[in-house]
Amino acid sequence: MRTAPTDLPHPYIRPERAGAVPLIGPAELKALLEGPEPPVVIDVRAPAERLLGHLPRDRSIPLAELPRHLDELPRDRPLVTYDQFGSDARRAVDYLRGRGFFLTAALEGGIDDYARIADPEIARYGADARDGTLWLRQFPRADTGCLAYLLGDRSAGKAVVIDPGRDPEPYLAALSEGGWDLVAIVETHTHADHLAGHSPLHAKTDAPIFLSRSSPALYPHRALAEADAIPFGSEEVAVLETPGHTKDHLTLRVRDKIFSGDTLLIGACGRTDLGDGNPELLYESLTEKLLRLPDTTEVYPAHFGRRHALVERYCSTVGFERATNEALNQGSRAAFLAYMTEGWPPKPAEFDRIVAENLRA
Ligand SMILES: [Fe+2]
Repeated sequence: MRTAPTDLPHPYIRPERAGAVPLIGPAELKALLEGPEPPVVIDVRAPAERLLGHLPRDRSIPLAELPRHLDELPRDRPLVTYDQFGSDARRAVDYLRGRGFFLTAALEGGIDDYARIADPEIARYGADARDGTLWLRQFPRADTGCLAYLLGDRSAGKAVVIDPGRDPEPYLAALSEGGWDLVAIVETHTHADHLAGHSPLHAKTDAPIFLSRSSPALYPHRALAEADAIPFGSEEVAVLETPGHTKDHLTLRVRDKIFSGDTLLIGACGRTDLGDGNPELLYESLTEKLLRLPDTTEVYPAHFGRRHALVERYCSTVGFERATNEALNQGSRAAFLAYMTEGWPPKPAEFDRIVAENLRA
């Protein structure tokens, strides 16, 4: 929900929701599980659902059986509950907090998001066998609210990185850990809110940088147009031109997944007044391209979280956004254009400088 400029201390921050169940994101949980003091992880699904896969070193207590197991749970250590998509895990947290287990959080998006985002080795519900060769890792950056992606074809060992942050180390570590050969660095658009990381990553890997043919970037790059494709092993990144948030915005599709940059965010669309954007073009990009994709298409945006006044979820689907996204539910073209052009907080002063820097190198 948008708020009048005077109500917001920072253009992107919104208040915490009252009464919300504490959530932990997949990447945060993975880091904790690998750390010195991992939380106690509880799978609240029915036992039959565990057959497909479960998180490492967890324990199984189906939701209905929680009341009988309270004495076995520590009150002085963090507990994390999870299920398939997150709803039963939230109920479990509500129940446990009501009984004095205050260090309890639910895994946001359930094991399904965990497998998509943090650990592709964990089996996913409904994922077909071929999906097993496509590797996807998401890199959330809590400080900027940005999301970057590493996609790989496991059979060929070839990978691409989308929208890397300025520090190349997380991507270099993931590339070396998986033995990936990086064949492309792709930017969905010229970012205004953070310094992009294509150049530092290129300097370390020599992988070519791909941008829209409409990008005014001054550094060496390869230009992409509608229907172009970047192969990586037997997979490919297909290009959709989706101008609107910026003139040079691309949406990148890999199988049934889109990397939608700031064209389609979770619950919102990227503002069109931060650079060379255009709300009419954004409307066309959404209605003529992205909303024509099947509802099951997975949506991986470039931003999440409070810093961008967004939900704390990291991925969605076209169908979920079609049903719930505030920008997409304005009812008419005219209402959408008004929504995108009225009532936003002022553009932060440093954005023009960031754009200039992102175009220079
Ligand atoms: Fe952006």
